[in-house]
Amino acid sequence: MKKGYVCSFCGARFVKWQGQCSRCGRWGTLEEIKDLSKKDDLNSHQVEIAPISLKEISKDNIKFLSSGSSIFDHFLGRGMVAGSVILLAGEPGVGKSTFLMQLLSGFIKSGLNGLYVSGEESLYQLKLRADRLGICDDKFKLLCTQNLSPIISIIREKNSPDFIVIDSIQTIKSPEASGIMGGVSQIKEVTSRLYEEAKKKDIVVLIVSHITKDGQIAGPKLLEHMVDVVLYMEGDKLSSYRVLKITKNRFGPSNNILVLEMETGGLKIVKDPSTFFLTSRDSTSSGSSLVMAMEGKRPLVIEIQALVTKGFGQNPRRTALGIDLNRLYLLIAILEKRLALRFYEMDVYVKISAGIKISDPAMDLGICSALISSYFDIPVPDRSVFWGEVDLNGFIRPSFGEDKRLLQANNLNFSKIICPRSKYVDEYPKEKIHSLSNIKELTSLQFCKK
Ligand code: TYD
Ligand code: MG
Repeated sequence: MKKGYVCSFCGARFVKWQGQCSRCGRWGTLEEIKDLSKKDDLNSHQVEIAPISLKEISKDNIKFLSSGSSIFDHFLGRGMVAGSVILLAGEPGVGKSTFLMQLLSGFIKSGLNGLYVSGEESLYQLKLRADRLGICDDKFKLLCTQNLSPIISIIREKNSPDFIVIDSIQTIKSPEASGIMGGVSQIKEVTSRLYEEAKKKDIVVLIVSHITKDGQIAGPKLLEHMVDVVLYMEGDKLSSYRVLKITKNRFGPSNNILVLEMETGGLKIVKDPSTFFLTSRDSTSSGSSLVMAMEGKRPLVIEIQALVTKGFGQNPRRTALGIDLNRLYLLIAILEKRLALRFYEMDVYVKISAGIKISDPAMDLGICSALISSYFDIPVPDRSVFWGEVDLNGFIRPSFGEDKRLLQANNLNFSKIICPRSKYVDEYPKEKIHSLSNIKELTSLQFCKK
């Protein structure tokens, strides 16, 4: 029989016992695993299940439950699927509990039963939040526990709720698993038990998970493969907007976003977020450009700000907020090489307005324009919008959703649309469109002196 030890916090395995886990650095978390070599006896299983042909599977068995908000249902596809497990991850304080109370309330209003399980807050605290949100439905049931057993008993009851919120997975402990609350073995055990029960009873279980700043150990990444839908809530706690993103969806679109605004009475869905991030912009200052970015299926206009200043250190500084820093290095190198701009002696700071994080590669052209504009200290043309992915050789490539971006830019009445060459550009007024195939062509616009 082989023996081993596992860290109950990060799951690292060791052959010998040691006081400190050498992966996560925590003390006293190693526990013995009794039998590593135990194998499942294949002969002991009889064939009880047989393969089924694709044609025999009916799609009518899937039951979609409405959340009471058509926008949220559309965001997920067609609502929440009965028998699914959804994960909502986000930093502490971003608004997860607020959002879920509102979601559960909408769900109850559409005639279904809901239960809110909290392992973090007392009934009194939950009541205070509900009052603030104007929720006083007597069908809204709450349970404060840190033990999985009562939750499983409620699910197994005849009249079990159709939708259960678990806030949060880090505060629920299963008596059947070892390890500390919130550690890897507990989180895995609690999630897999909830997953099994949700499938058996055809109910929706929504699990909240906190993102920890120290490397996300025992966080949502561990759970992503165990659940059907993964949602992330992002946003700067100091500003009022929040963005809900889908990163995995087994039943619908997996790249949608929902923009929410935190008000004194809770979170409100922003119905048309296309220009939501554009408040109070000074179009006469240099280093600012607008980008038509796509997040999911939606074109969003985002402001990019760049500041290029003379550097005095040995190594020039590069700082990026809201975009990938490696992408910024790459774009600076392209501008140095293709447009012969002397960025090597300049400090560069780039920021996306309102702190939103965007990973659309078509932001490249907008970032380059903001950089050039700040470099020469000349504002980009008023009412202009940019998009296009920039290759290492300076070529500008069309991105996905070209048609949608063009349509939106035209609808929003931008007078200069600077975009890649594509088959769609001919459908729009020639005086508005500046389609480019190489970054060097930016020099035809007056903010680029070369
Ligand atoms: P909360 O939902 O508790 O965050 P999480 O569950 O992700 O930790 O909400 C956190 C913040 O939201 C808190 O700082 C107060 C603010 N808030 C409002 O601005 N308006 C409201 O109506 C509510 C309920 C909260
Ligand atoms: Mg909370």
